[in-house]
Amino acid sequence: MSLVLITGSGRRIGKGLAIEFARKGWDVIIHYNKSEKEAEETEKYITKNFGVKIHKFSLDLKETKAIEKTFENVFKEFGVPDVLVNNAGIFPLRFALDELEEQVWEETIAINLKAYLFVAKVFSKFARDGSRIINIGSLGGIETWKGRIPYNISKAGVIQLTKSLAKELAPRISVNCVNPGTIFIPYEPNQIDSPMIPPNKIPMQRYGTILDVFDAVYFFATCSNFITGQVINVDGGYHLDRF
Ligand SMILES: NC(=O)c1ccc[n+]([C@@H]2O[C@H](COP(=O)([O-])OP(=O)(O)OC[C@H]3O[C@@H](n4cnc5c(N)ncnc54)[C@H](OP(=O)(O)O)[C@@H]3O)[C@@H](O)[C@H]2O)c1
Repeated sequence: MSLVLITGSGRRIGKGLAIEFARKGWDVIIHYNKSEKEAEETEKYITKNFGVKIHKFSLDLKETKAIEKTFENVFKEFGVPDVLVNNAGIFPLRFALDELEEQVWEETIAINLKAYLFVAKVFSKFARDGSRIINIGSLGGIETWKGRIPYNISKAGVIQLTKSLAKELAPRISVNCVNPGTIFIPYEPNQIDSPMIPPNKIPMQRYGTILDVFDAVYFFATCSNFITGQVINVDGGYHLDRF
């Protein structure tokens, strides 16, 4: 039986990934920060429907200094995962440059980028040969969106981090990245300060779903370990019209 740990998996995309891994028979470690109730519901849903082992723990990933000890304890208690999915992230409100506060920069970089590195660091210390790290980036890592400097930079950083870690951790661990485009989650709509792209502007004429993201994540979780340092855009071809 394989074990996956997904950060930020109490709700939304992370929750969907946890459910889909469980559907495939994987044991799952759910990480959450504030969404304790949602994490409990996800745990109950998975236990009831798939009969796999499921554990959960919480940590504010802004607390970089707590990452190493907390994850080490989780690995000792629940086992060392075969696959780590760095998924937890924030999408701050849009700020013009003259309104951008240092705190927004600090938080976005800490959660979206720095935590990915330090979670990967402690994972790599314990992981078996052949393990995988999958980073969830964003189309915002290859595009430039007005008013989104910290987010764009954090997600561009995730792409470079993926390549740097892939080199650093070869040949033991493969490291890849999935960049979602606009993903629509009907039961938890986005709370964002800008309207979503109209679907007819996306070559595939629709928004992405959690299953679309899962397909790419599961590919990296199970493909040849000769594939490393790669990025898949799951965006219905949206980037093709932009470059
Ligand atoms: N949705 C999209 O269309 C889309 C598009 C492109 C990329 N993405 C990327 O896909 C990933 C998941 O997106 P989503 O839409 O599901 O995100 P979301 O709704 O913003 O959920 C974020 C997750 O991250 C966790 N999180 C936030 N701050 C945290 C902190 N300080 N410490 C620990 N965990 C924290 C949350 O946990 P708690 O709720 O427990 O606090 C939650 O589970 C993110 O990396 C996002 O950038 C999403």
